Amino acid sequence: MDSLTSDDVAIRPIRAEEWQAVKELRLAALRDPLAHLAFLDTYEEAVERSDGFWQDRAAGGGAEDSGVRQFIAEESDGQWVGTVTVLVEEAGTTDWAGFPVERRQGHVVGVYVRPEHRGSGLTKALFDAALEWAWGVGVERVRLIVHEGNKRAQGFYRKAGFVPTGVTVPVAQAPGEKELEFVLEKG
Ligand SMILES: CC(C)(COP(=O)(O)OP(=O)(O)OC[C@H]1O[C@@H](n2cnc3c(N)ncnc32)[C@H](O)[C@@H]1OP(=O)(O)O)[C@@H](O)C(=O)NCCC(=O)NCCS
Repeated sequence: MDSLTSDDVAIRPIRAEEWQAVKELRLAALRDPLAHLAFLDTYEEAVERSDGFWQDRAAGGGAEDSGVRQFIAEESDGQWVGTVTVLVEEAGTTDWAGFPVERRQGHVVGVYVRPEHRGSGLTKALFDAALEWAWGVGVERVRLIVHEGNKRAQGFYRKAGFVPTGVTVPVAQAPGEKELEFVLEKG
């Protein structure tokens, strides 16, 4: 089901066949001036990836039962202007950083809104959809990881109710820098 924001932008999950739009928006995100703080991969790496990589990513983010859901904001002319992805992490597993996952939780990744849509409420609309989905699949909390220097993203996450847990993750590519875990407990 699509929902409309006040700007006539539809928020919806992606469909598996939309891999070219997934790729285009991700490459735009990786060209953002803050990309080095916001994302773990780089434009140079991503642009070299095969069509199969993007097809697999879209298939995962667009499947009902994959434990992954990618939401996008789409203008009436079809342009995608923002995205948020939720991964479901199962209790008893180990996360990508080697920490144990103690409770079934959502992990929000790949947060990006085109500059001309920032500060408009569109990011909140994307999060509302992503969180509704996450609570609906039964997670107990939703977390995300944000670079200590990414103050605007932190400002948004706090506004959305996320709070820092005190857990930090060193940035492999930048010794001395760290990322912060923020969490939203189920209300
Ligand atoms: C992160 C992102 C999705 C946030 O969406 P947004 O629409 O810009 O967020 P908003 O403007 O609604 O909220 C940001 C808040 O932080 C505040 N803020 C901005 N810069 C800030 C700073 N340097 N220090 C503290 N707060 C700051 C804003 O004032 C705003 O709060 P307000 O509405 O109370 O004024 C968007 O900026 C983006 O795509 N950034 C590039 C990619 C990125 O960083 N992704 C996140 C990776 S973890």
